[in-house]
Amino acid sequence: MSEHLPVIIQGGMGIAVSNWELAKTVSLKGQLGVVSGTAIDNVMARRLQDGDKSGNTRRALAAFPNQEIVQKILAKYFIDGGKAPETPYVMVPKITLDQKRDAQEILIVANFVEVWLAKEGHDGLVGINFLHKIQMTTAASVLGAMLAGVDYIIMGAGIPRELPKLIRQISKLEVGSVPVDVIGGPAAQTTINPLDFVPAGTKIKKPKFLAIISVDVLGTYLARDEETRPDGFIIEHNSAGGHNAPPRGKWEFDTNGEPIYGPKDIADIEKMKKLDLPFWLAGTYGSPERVKAALNQGAAGVQVGTLFAISNHSGFSGKTRKQLLDKLKSDTLEIKTDVKASPTSFPIKIAKLEGHTSTSEGFAARPKLCDLGYLREPAISETGRTIYRCPSEPDDQFIKKGGAVEDIDGRKCLCNGLMANIGLPQVRKDGYVEAPIVTLGSDIEGAKVLLKSHPDGYGADEAVNWLLSLV
Ligand SMILES: Cc1cc2nc3c(=O)[nH]c(=O)nc-3n(C[C@H](O)[C@H](O)[C@H](O)COP(=O)(O)O)c2cc1C
Repeated sequence: MSEHLPVIIQGGMGIAVSNWELAKTVSLKGQLGVVSGTAIDNVMARRLQDGDKSGNTRRALAAFPNQEIVQKILAKYFIDGGKAPETPYVMVPKITLDQKRDAQEILIVANFVEVWLAKEGHDGLVGINFLHKIQMTTAASVLGAMLAGVDYIIMGAGIPRELPKLIRQISKLEVGSVPVDVIGGPAAQTTINPLDFVPAGTKIKKPKFLAIISVDVLGTYLARDEETRPDGFIIEHNSAGGHNAPPRGKWEFDTNGEPIYGPKDIADIEKMKKLDLPFWLAGTYGSPERVKAALNQGAAGVQVGTLFAISNHSGFSGKTRKQLLDKLKSDTLEIKTDVKASPTSFPIKIAKLEGHTSTSEGFAARPKLCDLGYLREPAISETGRTIYRCPSEPDDQFIKKGGAVEDIDGRKCLCNGLMANIGLPQVRKDGYVEAPIVTLGSDIEGAKVLLKSHPDGYGADEAVNWLLSLV
């Protein structure tokens, strides 16, 4: 990589916890600010339905290279003055294997908007994070982010072997494709043709691609072939916020019900160095001492999530952030690795907070339903039809679609919960308002340190200053 490498990568945190405001703040400090592309189509649609009071979304929309698409989106979602609080949000079309044009359009545009806003008015670096597990939205989302000139694409939660090729195809305005796993059938392909959406001659810059991995074998595998080789790696330890890689080998649990990780789950840094690609360390690297330690180990820097998620610039609603700050100040914040909560079946770290579905009362109060559907997996039904299922949908529906009973227990609706975290909860016809569910990493010490000097909360810029204070 020729250009300077950032020492700090602010972790991509879905849904819109790492929003454009957080990413822009970090980018303006000369580091890599990262937005989350996860579910950003519904995020943008809800911001428009809330009236886009700041005008930010509409300003970014005005910069999109195909205004015919923008006008359709505004006509469908924008509500001047905002919707009534008791009115449910209109949903964007669910993405499927056979991709409908309007579903692709809003994905492209929403990813464009988030990156465009993060990059507006400066020339700092901005990245976007995607989850490999959410395969059906990838092609359209990557196109949208690249149209806004994204500098880095970062992907975790799986083996992102197809991304380097997709990025190359889209940068040349060629048809890009992404394979999608289908339970009980051969993999399908989702494709995107940039020229269906933007004029020929549109300039698209090729961003760098970083793969998030937990162990060196995966790094070696991806680096071996030019088709799959990323421009660098983020090596994420299992203490990190969000989803974690499952433990390798037989799963064992401690008395708290949390998975036990062993030496096989730790990447061998010496082997990673031999790949001759830059790497950043993540998971409990959110302090000046740990930044220094990472650099001493030969890393280009660190990726930090939790410290930025708690900062005042993140997308958490004021209510959610206050709950977190109160618990941090009283030293009562509990974070647990939950192996059941995520429909993806990956372990995920969850903070226990009152009124959230992380508590047994909050979980019991929520009527099960699946309407956002990002974590649905395509499967072939007994009659040979393609169906979509998620273990967090109502039990009878999941089982009718061939899902296993043992996959249901303890599953939570991350899609709706994560939307609620950022102040965009769905309101149901019966008055139920979707409750939040917060993921955070195990390492909350940095946030506690900064809260001592900034009792009302600290900014992401202050977090960057602190992280770099020893280098
Ligand atoms: C609230 C939150 C949400 C996250 N969401 C994602 C995500 O959507 N995709 C992803 O690759 N990583 C996600 N992460 C992981 C971060 O990008 C980062 O790698 C991690 O937080 C680093 O470890 P730390 O939390 O100890 O700093 C998330 C982390 C947090 C705290």
